[in-house]
Amino acid sequence: MVALIMLEMRTIKISLIFWFPLKRKTCLDLELIEFIKAIILDMFAAGSDTTSTALERAMTELLRRPEIMHKLKTEIRSIAGSKTFITEDDLEAMVYLKAVIKETVRLHPPLPFLVPRASRTKVEIDGYEIKQGYQVYINAWAIGRDPISWEIPEEFEPDRFLRSVVDYKAMISG
Ligand code: HEM
Repeated sequence: MVALIMLEMRTIKISLIFWFPLKRKTCLDLELIEFIKAIILDMFAAGSDTTSTALERAMTELLRRPEIMHKLKTEIRSIAGSKTFITEDDLEAMVYLKAVIKETVRLHPPLPFLVPRASRTKVEIDGYEIKQGYQVYINAWAIGRDPISWEIPEEFEPDRFLRSVVDYKAMISG
C-alpha cells in the first residue's frame, strides 16, 4: 500500500511539473496551482502516516489476542468469501472489523494530540478560560484511556463498540 501511495505521489509530482509551464501566465494561476499543491500534499500527509500507524497498531493488538484475530477472520471470510473484489456494501456489513479499528484508534490514536488549534475568540470550557489566539491541544490519548468513560480502558476489547451507542462520528440519542 505504501508503495502504491509513493507511486501516486510521483505521478502527481510529474503531472504538476508538466502542467506548470502551461499555467505560468498570470499570478492568479500560480496562486491556484500553489493552492492545489497544498491540498494534494495535505491529503497525502493526513492520510498516509495515520493509516499506516493505525494498521500497524491493529496488527500488533491482533497478534497479541489470537481469539480476537480469529473472530475477525471469521467475519471477513463469511462476508468476502471467495469474492475477488469486495464492495462498500461488504465493508458496511463488517461490523466487527469496524469495532477493531475503533478500538485500535481509541488505544493508539495515530495523532495523540490531534491537530493543534487556536481559539478565534475568548471561550470558557469546563471552567477553564481559553484566551483568544491561544493554541489548544486535545489529549485524545488520555480521553481514550479515561477510566470514567471506559471499562478496563487499558484492555484491547473491540466488543465494547458493539455494545456502545457512542461512535467517533457522534453520540446517538433517542
Ligand atoms: C486512521 C486514520 C486517520 C486518523 C486517525 C486521522 C486523524 C485525523 C485527525 C485527528 C484530524 C484533525 C481533526 C481536527 O482536529 O479537526 C484529521 C484531519 C484530517 N484528515 Fe485524517 N485521519 C485519518 C485518515 C485520513 C485519511 C485516509 C485522509 C485522506 C485521504 C485524511 C485526511 C484528513 C484531512 C484532509 C484532514 C483535515 C480536515 C480539516 O481540517 O478540515 N485522514 N485526521
